[in-house]
Amino acid sequence: MSRSVAILGIQWGDEGKGKIVDMLTEHANAVVRFQGGHNAGHTIVVEDSKTILHLVPSGILHEGVECLIGNGVVLAPDALQEELAMLDQKGVQVTGRLWISPACPLIMPYHILLDHAREKKRGKAAIGTTGRGIGPAYEDKASRRGLRVADLFDAAYCDQRLEQIVDYHNFVLREYFKSEAIDLGQMQEFCRFHAARLEPLVADVSARIGALRAAGRNILFEGAQGTLLDIDHGTYPFVTSSNTTAGGACTGSGTGPRDLDHVLGVVKAYTTRVGGGPFPTELSDEVGEHLASRGNEFGATTGRARRCGWLDAVALRRAVRINGVGGLCVTKLDVLDGLEVIKVCTGYTCKGQPYDPLIMDGRAFANCEPVYEELEGWQQPTSGVIQLDQLPREARVYLDRIQDLTDVPIDLVSTGPERSHCITCNTVY
Ligand code: GDP
Ligand code: IMO
Ligand code: MG
Repeated sequence: MSRSVAILGIQWGDEGKGKIVDMLTEHANAVVRFQGGHNAGHTIVVEDSKTILHLVPSGILHEGVECLIGNGVVLAPDALQEELAMLDQKGVQVTGRLWISPACPLIMPYHILLDHAREKKRGKAAIGTTGRGIGPAYEDKASRRGLRVADLFDAAYCDQRLEQIVDYHNFVLREYFKSEAIDLGQMQEFCRFHAARLEPLVADVSARIGALRAAGRNILFEGAQGTLLDIDHGTYPFVTSSNTTAGGACTGSGTGPRDLDHVLGVVKAYTTRVGGGPFPTELSDEVGEHLASRGNEFGATTGRARRCGWLDAVALRRAVRINGVGGLCVTKLDVLDGLEVIKVCTGYTCKGQPYDPLIMDGRAFANCEPVYEELEGWQQPTSGVIQLDQLPREARVYLDRIQDLTDVPIDLVSTGPERSHCITCNTVY
């Protein structure tokens, strides 16, 4: 029987989704990306070799596994070529197993200019985007102005559409942002160049997923970013521009909701965030430094330092509900090794009074103070542990508490960046 599992980040991204998708791909026949773009940075470590993927699904290191990029992904053709060249250098065979939906909106060079111009104009209120053109590309999709992968294959149509699009964006760039304009000819050339390279990779992703399911194959849906960055349910406006939550797996790939058999929520044993926006459990003390340095918390896409803090069980419970999470994967437990005390946020206050903020209202969420529950830390190393009973008692108590607070069982616990560093509590496959 075919089994489809969605693997989603349930914090602000960088939970370790790439590692978990790669690890579970051993049991899967296909891996699907369904939203976001090359703002994602998914790290896979196999023995001593590290691979960072941005667009290509994290199943690519397993020979013979199909990797599908669904219609919900905004595709930067130049970034894709760079990633394919990187994989080729590593000797990873991609041809014949990477397929891209013709309905993917394209990220064009002017989207990147617009992303930067918009952030600059926001000044102190900047979102801290990855500068990859993600927001402007999704805006063009929603306004029905944008180009999609399929448009590349009709050069005359593409040229004519670009005339209107470039005209529109140049007005905004010149008149509103007072910044440099884009050259129509260069954009037309960009499209012609990439059309030839993309054409052999195009396939009806929804139909392929249907056929795989009908043939009894297992499929993983790989989320990018995390629930708190969801355009609707995240800490708006400090969010990304796509639905990072479980519904996005359906709309972004052309899969029915009843065809998702399990949702695995990936959660760090603490919290990180890159870019601006509220983060009630953020730490600016030596514990925050411990998490940042032991966890090597630097962005896989932009290299920016990630902000670090304690686990927020209130936000987590909400993420569990929104996504229909059926099991948790707790990652980076080893990063907590050596701490005397571990705190978990179980509520908030505002001006000294109990407070129940609407988390998806970034402004309300910025006004709250966390209420913490304290647990005992552990001094023994957990790095690389692969059996639950080998963990220190305090670490098991912490994991039990996460299960109690979320009311969801823990399926997996990750204890290191390497593919094999993982404890299986409940089999996902
Ligand atoms: P993603 O975007 O969710 O795929 O996560 P990233 O790759 O951006 O960030 C996760 C980082 O943590 C990467 O550097 C991983 O190699 C690393 N990592 C993943 N799981 C673990 C773990 O259990 N322990 C430690 N120490 N590092 C981990
Ligand atoms: P993965 O898939 C962490 C953040 C940016 C910024 C906000 C909007 O590796 O978990 P965008 O460029 O998307 O318009 O930026 O979202 N962001 C991420 N943070 N991990 C990511 O991806 C992210 N992708 C975007 O830092 O705050
Ligand atoms: Mg990442």
